[in-house]
Order: sequence, then structure tokens, then C-alpha cells
Amino acid sequence: MFSGGVNLMEGIIPEETVEEIRIKNDIVSVISKYVDIKKKGKNYQGLCPFHNEKTPSFNVSPDKQLFYCFGCGEGGNVFSFIMKINNLTFPEACEYLADQVRVEIPHNRLQNPEYIEEKENIKKINNLTAHFYHKLLLKSNKAEPAKNYLYKRGLKKETIDRFLVGFAPYDWNLLTNLLLKKGFDKELVVKAGVVGKSSKENRLYDRFRNRIIFPIKDQKGDVIGFGGRVLSDKDHPKYLNSPETPVFNKRKILYGIDLSYKEIRKTNSVLIVEGYMDVIMMHQFGFKNVLAPLGTSFTEDQGRLLKYNAKKIYIAFDADIAGEAAAIRSLELLQNLGLQVRVCNLPEGLDPDDYLNSYGKDKFINEILKRSQPLMYYRLRQAAKLKDIESIEGKKEFVEEVLPLIANLNSAVEQEEYLKMISDWIGTGKNTLEKELIRITNKIGKEYKNKNYKNKDYTNRKKDNQDSYRKGKGQLRAQEELITLMLNYFETVQLVKEYLYPDDFDKKEWSLIVHCLFVLESQGETEFDLSMLMSNVNSKSDKDIDVNDLEKEISRLTFREHPKPEEISINKVIKDCAFKIKGKDLERRKEQLQESLKKIDPGEEYEKYREVLLELQKYIKIEKTKNLNLEGRGVRKYGKE
Ligand code: CTP
Ligand code: MN
Repeated sequence: MFSGGVNLMEGIIPEETVEEIRIKNDIVSVISKYVDIKKKGKNYQGLCPFHNEKTPSFNVSPDKQLFYCFGCGEGGNVFSFIMKINNLTFPEACEYLADQVRVEIPHNRLQNPEYIEEKENIKKINNLTAHFYHKLLLKSNKAEPAKNYLYKRGLKKETIDRFLVGFAPYDWNLLTNLLLKKGFDKELVVKAGVVGKSSKENRLYDRFRNRIIFPIKDQKGDVIGFGGRVLSDKDHPKYLNSPETPVFNKRKILYGIDLSYKEIRKTNSVLIVEGYMDVIMMHQFGFKNVLAPLGTSFTEDQGRLLKYNAKKIYIAFDADIAGEAAAIRSLELLQNLGLQVRVCNLPEGLDPDDYLNSYGKDKFINEILKRSQPLMYYRLRQAAKLKDIESIEGKKEFVEEVLPLIANLNSAVEQEEYLKMISDWIGTGKNTLEKELIRITNKIGKEYKNKNYKNKDYTNRKKDNQDSYRKGKGQLRAQEELITLMLNYFETVQLVKEYLYPDDFDKKEWSLIVHCLFVLESQGETEFDLSMLMSNVNSKSDKDIDVNDLEKEISRLTFREHPKPEEISINKVIKDCAFKIKGKDLERRKEQLQESLKKIDPGEEYEKYREVLLELQKYIKIEKTKNLNLEGRGVRKYGKE
């Protein structure tokens, strides 16, 4: 699983190159360009750049080449830091860091240089087109109506400039001729999406005609596509967007990202609106953390982009659209990624652009943002709207729909509050609802357990151990303790290996980490470079594990408080931990054996009796000596390799 390079969209950066880049970029010097860090003991400390704080909880370890924030849990190696702080993908971060230390990334057979060049040229065409239409809007007589239209809608000149808004006149060849004159290939201008090709005569023509042009940029500020709006609402379609091209994927991009991401980072929050004009107008009114999807629902890719940058998400969609099932699903997707989702309540028929122009900035803050509601509240209200909650039937349907949602909440306080609320709405007593909630919770709990039980199949656990009992906190802590020791003192790996298997660890990230440590140890490694592990983990090898989560977990466990081997008997700590982890399994097995012993008549089945008795004695001995080392050892397979 750690062989091969890092699989990227465009191809593969060889593992050695990734390694070279990592080694040459010392994490302390890279991070100190962004964060003021001071030496403290073995590590460096500073104020975390990923969340707001007044006392430093952001730590950098020069030995481990890792960072970790005790405040927000961000962590990882030098690549993850650059990805997060500059909002880059892994290959982009590689490229960036390679540049800093003058390492050349080789273009191997998979990283097709022609393809990369093509993408660069498509961006050039898009950039050129954007500036051409922008200049036309400002300078050409033909653009007067468009300019008037924009000014009438309240756009200022400086806003038009900042967003590079443009105008494509009613002309079939203006842009096409320009691009061809500049020497761009016919195929390429079509591929870039700004020029169309008639299917009959293969004639080229300008895609956007008589439309206001909103260039869509990527994070770096390169134009990658366009939205074109009609001047008169009578014309159709209202918006014409660029087709999918090698650089334009609607499901990945969010409009406004180039101008908003710094502020999103800074405020740890983002406002999602629906349209181009909403983003632009919000910016003009001083809100700089605003984005819009391009006329589609949220995708997981977009959610992840946001997840790295903000904790809180405000949604300001048109009331009707926000109520649609697809919209709710996409908001839940955001929530499931760990983001706090709040829904804004706009007056019917108004979008943020309309609202700002009618009521101004202060009202938007006080009436809209401050009165936003958690997604859950919004969901409940939406469900109540759709059911006739005056009728008995309607009440029942409503309760059946919303109680499972409430049952899924983690906080009892929240559950209580929502129960009170819906009890008020439908006039059914809170006690009745509570009873119903308990029934549903039990049902969900069972399904959940069954599901988890099934998911455990990825390990090759022995059947006996598969009995799913609840692990106590102490057991989980013991597991963390062991991993922390192994990550900090590689020599402890072989000791732990004597007692436990990777799948004795309860979280899948933990099993994977332990598995990797065991493998390295058995390969005769004497040192373990964590940062290397991180840059080598290929997310594709296990869809269940998010690389980002894994990185955070490795960092967290590494930086976790732990006993130092010189101060304690490390053997004893490991033994105790292992016993804590395995103890319950053993107890269980012991009880089973005692039970079966009672049922066997030694007079009749002496051999069987003896076998069970011997095994029982073994467990009693383990318990007494706390020596678990009777079960065999070695690395067992972790999932697929
Ligand atoms: N959209 C689209 N294609 C359409 C209509 C809409 O791609 N035919 C997308 C655009 O990204 C648009 C967003 O959906 O910005 C919201 O559409 P809408 O509310 O109709 O337009 P507004 O952005 O409000 O535009 P305006 O204020 O100019 O009417
Ligand atoms: Mn609008």
C-alpha cells in the first residue's frame, strides 16, 4: 500500500521526488513563513493559523516534522500544512514546495506534458477572452445598454473591475477571429468552450452573444470558465455557462473562491448564495467570505474544500429552492462533513442581492445572519410546512418523519429543546413524544450496531474476539497510549507486537497506523519517519479512511502527553495497556469456557473436558500473570494490501 507514487489527477509524482521535496523543506522554516513560532522545549509553538485563538496551541515538531494544534485538531506534515494554508491540492502543494527548493518534478509517462500544456493554453484563452469582454464592456459603444443595465442594478465601476465583468456583443465572429489571429488552434478554442462549432458546416462561432459575461476563476485567479447572462429577462436561457472543459468542472468550483478564500479562512465562516450577482453584490457591501455553486447542488468536492477552510456555513438560498429535497440533502452532506450549517431566512422572492439593495448591510447582518437557524430547526420547520399538522394523520406522519432526525442528534440537551418545540407546534405532549423517541432510538441503535458489526469484517479477526461488547473509555485510552508510545519510540513497536494485533485497536485509523508500524518493524526498519508515512499514504487504497483524518490522528497521537521511557518501566506500561485492551476479551472467553465445562461430563467425554480445562487454565494464568503473550504474534493482514 505504500509502494508507487502519489496518484494524482494528472499522473504520478514519483515517490522519490515527493520524498526529496519533503526532506528539503524543513517544516519549521516553512511554517515560520506563515506563523510566528517560538521554540519551547523540543518543539515550536505559536498561534494557530487555522482557527482564532489568543494563547498558542499550535505545535511544530522538528524531530517528527509534524505540526498539530491542540485547539482545533489540525495536523499533518509539511505538505498538509501548505495544502491547508494555501488551499492547494496535493500536486499543487508538491509543485509549490518543489519550487522553493529547486527540485524538478519529472514528467513521466503518465504525466502527459501535452495534456498539461493544453490546459495551460485553455486557461490562456479564457483569460484573454475575459479581458477582451471586460474591455469591451467599458469601452465599446455597443456595450452601452449592458453598462447601463449593470449600473442600474447597483454595481460600481470598481466592482465590475474586481470581478472582471464583461460584455459579449451580438456578433458571431468577434472573439473567434481575435483568438485565431492570436495563433490559437481551431480545435483548442472550441475545447476551451468560448467558441462553438456548427455541426453541419464545421463553422466556428462565438458562444456568448449579447450577454453580460461573468468570468469564473479558480483559486489562483485564473479564468477557467464563464457565465453569460441575458440583458432582457425575456430571452432564454437566462444564463449560458461554459461547457465542461479540461479546466472547468462545475462540480468542483465555487464562484468567488479567488476573492473570498482569505476572508473565509480568517473568519472561519462562509456564506453560500445562489448566484453570480449575489456573490458580487455581497462583496460590494463588504462581505468578503461569500461563494456560490454554479447552478448545481453542493457536491462532496465542494464540501471538502469548505471543510478545510471554515467551520461555520451560512446558507442564503431562495426560500423555495432551499426547501427542495435535493438542496436539503446537499446541506446535510455539509453537516456530515463536520461543518456547522445555519440556514438564513430570506423574505420570499428575495435573494441576497435584492435584499441588500432594498434594506442595506446592517439589516442583512441583524435580520438575516443573526437570525439564521441551525439546519435541524430548518428541517423540522420545513417538514411541518409540508404536513397538515392540524389533523391526526398529519401529526403522525410529521412525528414519524422528524423523530428519527432528532434521535440522531448527539446532544440530549438539543434533543430536549427540539422535542419541546415540536410538541408546541403539534400540541402533542412532550412526554408522549419522548416515549416515541426512546422507541425509535432503540431501533436505530440496533440497526447501527448491526451495521457496525458488519463493517468489522474488513479485519481478519478471530471469531472469538468478534463478540461486540462496548469498549470502555479505559480501553480506548490504553490503545491511544500504546500508539503514542510507538510513534514516539519506535523501539516499543516490537514489544507491543508481542501482545496485540492491529485489529485489536478499535478505530480504523488506529488499526491502519499500527499495521504500518508493525510492517515497518518486521521489515527491519529501526526508525520510523512519520512524515514519510503521511506523504506515502494513498487515499485510494482504502476508501474508508480519509487521508486528512489520518494525518490529524497521527499528529494528535504523536503530540499527546505521554510517559517517557527513561522515567518509567516501559515494559510494564505496555503490558498493562495490552491487558486493559485484551482483558475483557479474555474474561469473556473464560466465562464461556466455564459454562461449557459445566455441560461436559468428564466420564463420557474426557478428551473434550481436558481440552476445555486446559484452555481455561491458560486464561486463568494469563489473568494472574498479566502476561498476554500466549496467543502468538506477528502481523496479520490489514484489509487488502
Ligand atoms: N443558473 C444557471 N443557468 C440558468 C439559471 C441559473 O446556471 N439558466 C445559475 C447561475 O449560476 C445563477 C444561479 O443559478 O447565478 C441563480 O439563478 P437565478 O436566481 O435565476 O439568477 P440570479 O443569480 O439571481 O441572477 P439575477 O439576479 O441577475 O436575476
Ligand atoms: Mn438575483
